[in-house]
Amino acid sequence: MSEHIAFIGGGNMASAIITGLQKQGTSPQQISVVEPDPVARDKLNASFGVQAQAQADASLDTATLVVWAVKPQVFKDAAASVAPFTRQALHLSVAAGVRSDSITRWLGTERVVRAMPNTPALVGQGITGLYARAGATQADQQRVSDLLTSTGASIWFDAEDKLDVVTALSGSGPAYVFYFMEAMTTAGTEMGLSREQAQQLTIATFAGASALAQASSDAPQVLRQRVTSKGGTTFAAISSMEDNDVRALFIDAMYAARERAKQLGDEFGAD
Ligand SMILES: NC(=O)c1ccc[n+]([C@@H]2O[C@H](COP(=O)([O-])OP(=O)(O)OC[C@H]3O[C@@H](n4cnc5c(N)ncnc54)[C@H](OP(=O)(O)O)[C@@H]3O)[C@@H](O)[C@H]2O)c1
Repeated sequence: MSEHIAFIGGGNMASAIITGLQKQGTSPQQISVVEPDPVARDKLNASFGVQAQAQADASLDTATLVVWAVKPQVFKDAAASVAPFTRQALHLSVAAGVRSDSITRWLGTERVVRAMPNTPALVGQGITGLYARAGATQADQQRVSDLLTSTGASIWFDAEDKLDVVTALSGSGPAYVFYFMEAMTTAGTEMGLSREQAQQLTIATFAGASALAQASSDAPQVLRQRVTSKGGTTFAAISSMEDNDVRALFIDAMYAARERAKQLGDEFGAD
């Protein structure tokens, strides 16, 4: 059977996944997108050759997989217009926070998988946390894993509330990295480097340290200790951070993100 994948919402996340699908050989004819914004529709057509439509209609009847890539606050309304055409399909939601109980209720099907991706998916370096409802079969789960392969890695979780932790860690995580990058670039500039030089050094440092952590069997803690000789320059920097409780503040920040993910579920999941 030939696959027909329908995207509800044609923004950043949908574009990242469509890029991956096309790399895997999916043709534009196998993809439909429901996207109310005409500018976004034109962009999808220009980038992917996909004909996006403003509203859900009976052309979605043949969809085998529906990917929900809308903001959480519009999910329920979008679901009301899409559900009548897609009861036969497997549903994959990338919407932050919206719980599968709500999705199942709105769509009238138990074949639901939730995903929490992150923006490095745009360059094939993302990591996605996944949770499947009992109604999604092993084959459905494999289908989702295959779909996401070209956006990066993925990890399945056996309890849905762990996706709130994934949201706080890898979902929002790229922004934490950019935040540290901003601080390092600012400091480098203040200390006399050009902004361009400081930025180049910062980005290369993150890329290099990530590659080293990935290639090494040692934990980041060990890698850090190895470059922190007592009395040295790195030691001075780390001691300053420890004295100022940067670690504890950072952990607090992640708890705040998880709390917000939970709130989103409560806010947007109501009947
Ligand atoms: N970007 C990330 O890093 C990331 C990571 C993890 C999860 N997510 C989740 O992925 C979801 C999508 O994020 P995104 O960054 O792709 O957002 P986005 O770029 O804003 O894309 C969402 C698109 O959906 C469209 N839309 C609005 N109402 C619709 C409706 N009723 N039917 C169909 N389409 C509709 C929007 O059009 P208008 O602009 O006209 O409203 C917009 O083009 C969000 O729930 C987000 O939490 C994103």
